[in-house]
Amino acid sequence: MAPTLPRLILLTSLLVMPIGVCRAEEDALALFKRRITPLLRSPNPSSCAECHLSGVDLRNYIGETQEETFAALRDAGLVDIKQPDNSKLLAFIQRKPEKPTPVSEAVRKQEYDAFRAWIHAAIKDPRVVAAKTDSDQLGPAVPLTVVRHSRMDRIVESFVENIWSEMGRCASCHSPELNRGKIGRNGHTKEDVDAISWLVPRDPAATLRQLVESGNIDTDAPDESPVLTKPAGLTEHGGGPKFAVGSRTDKNFRRFLVDYAAVVNDKYVRADQLPTPPKLRGVMTKQHLRIVDVPEQFHRKLLRVDLYRWIQADGEQGGRWSESPWGTAENPIAGKRQLWQSMVTATAPRGSRRAAELKPEQPLPGGRYLAKIYIDQQDRTKTDRDYELGEAELYGEVEFDGPWAEGYQPPKIIHAPQPK
Ligand code: HEC
Ligand code: HEC
Repeated sequence: MAPTLPRLILLTSLLVMPIGVCRAEEDALALFKRRITPLLRSPNPSSCAECHLSGVDLRNYIGETQEETFAALRDAGLVDIKQPDNSKLLAFIQRKPEKPTPVSEAVRKQEYDAFRAWIHAAIKDPRVVAAKTDSDQLGPAVPLTVVRHSRMDRIVESFVENIWSEMGRCASCHSPELNRGKIGRNGHTKEDVDAISWLVPRDPAATLRQLVESGNIDTDAPDESPVLTKPAGLTEHGGGPKFAVGSRTDKNFRRFLVDYAAVVNDKYVRADQLPTPPKLRGVMTKQHLRIVDVPEQFHRKLLRVDLYRWIQADGEQGGRWSESPWGTAENPIAGKRQLWQSMVTATAPRGSRRAAELKPEQPLPGGRYLAKIYIDQQDRTKTDRDYELGEAELYGEVEFDGPWAEGYQPPKIIHAPQPK
């Protein structure tokens, strides 16, 4: 059947529409619908997630319409109309960690190509360029302090301070470089030993990833993470208990795990929900301290020593003990042997110059120290893991002096003080 007259007119009128404008308009809109909107609806994490565990995501920058999206990006200075390839949003998308995963690289390329093509098309469309929005809704939905707290580099830093710093206690069995000798012993096959080699030598970020992927960090119930319950002696552990429940190490492990779970579960939405870091920064030394003649009745009680350093005044005259401890150590007492022993952690107030200078395995200088000894005689840390031993548990003080070598053969040996 031949087309009727009105249909013909409609067809020709479509054909004579100003083609340039029409194509640009269609292209930008089509691109937006075909390549940008799906990013908004995608169930997979965006490339941002490789560094921003929560708080900000590429989706935060995509509005319901292209006009709204463009106007908000333009107003926020994230698109550069004169030099589209210099758009800040494209720079955000191009950020990548030192070792990106292949999946995130593919996602990143897809996002970059999509946004670059759309931005180029959109700036050719005067209607889109001139679009207005009164919404400043685009961008992170949480305060910037939360965005910063949820960043991977901050999280790795916290992992290093709270967990990685203790890896010396785990490496002999869990580092593939050090545990080969376990193969064939006690019936352990190579597969058995490989299966528990979650420690990636010299790479805390990869170790964290490995612990998460192997299910040893439980983000639903962080206190039940095997990386905590096994060495804390709360569940069966091939390596036995490695630290006491309620000890500094236990607190550090839990501080990291609880915070990490809150970040990945998007629990932080306000700045006042963020945890405050502890006042002291600590780094393990390789020095050991032993206290002998500890009363046998304190068997298995948690003992903490804080070490204050003698600060000599200028000109030889007088001096004082440091205001905050230079070192600390914590372990249960071996009552039957009447002794207590532990590796020592060097400490300094967070943000101080000395804190910045603390380095792993760097020994405390030899010289004069005051050891303040706290004993948890009531087992308060066992019932409340967050309990901090304080004045109520102060058992006594001892001074010591002289050189202090690394290692435990011999450790620095001091005598238990008379009780206060
Ligand atoms: C390679 C890691 C990495 C990736 C991937 C990454 N960012 Fe960031 N982002 C950072 C770092 C580091 C900072 C803070 C320091 C800076 O701005 O250089 C930051 C800061 C930000 C800020 C500013 C917040 C502030 O602290 O002022 C925003 C917003 C942001 N990123 C959004 C994004 C978006 C959106 C994506 C994905 C398209 C993304 N980032 C991808 C590492 C990354
Ligand atoms: C003397 C050897 C030894 C030491 C030291 C040791 N472990 Fe273990 N660990 C084992 C053995 C053996 C297993 C396997 C049996 C089991 O699951 O308990 C294991 C299992 C684990 C697992 C489960 C691994 C998996 O994927 O199944 C975690 C997590 C763990 N240990 C954490 C630690 C932490 C943290 C430390 C240091 C604070 C530590 N271990 C120190 C021997 C050790």
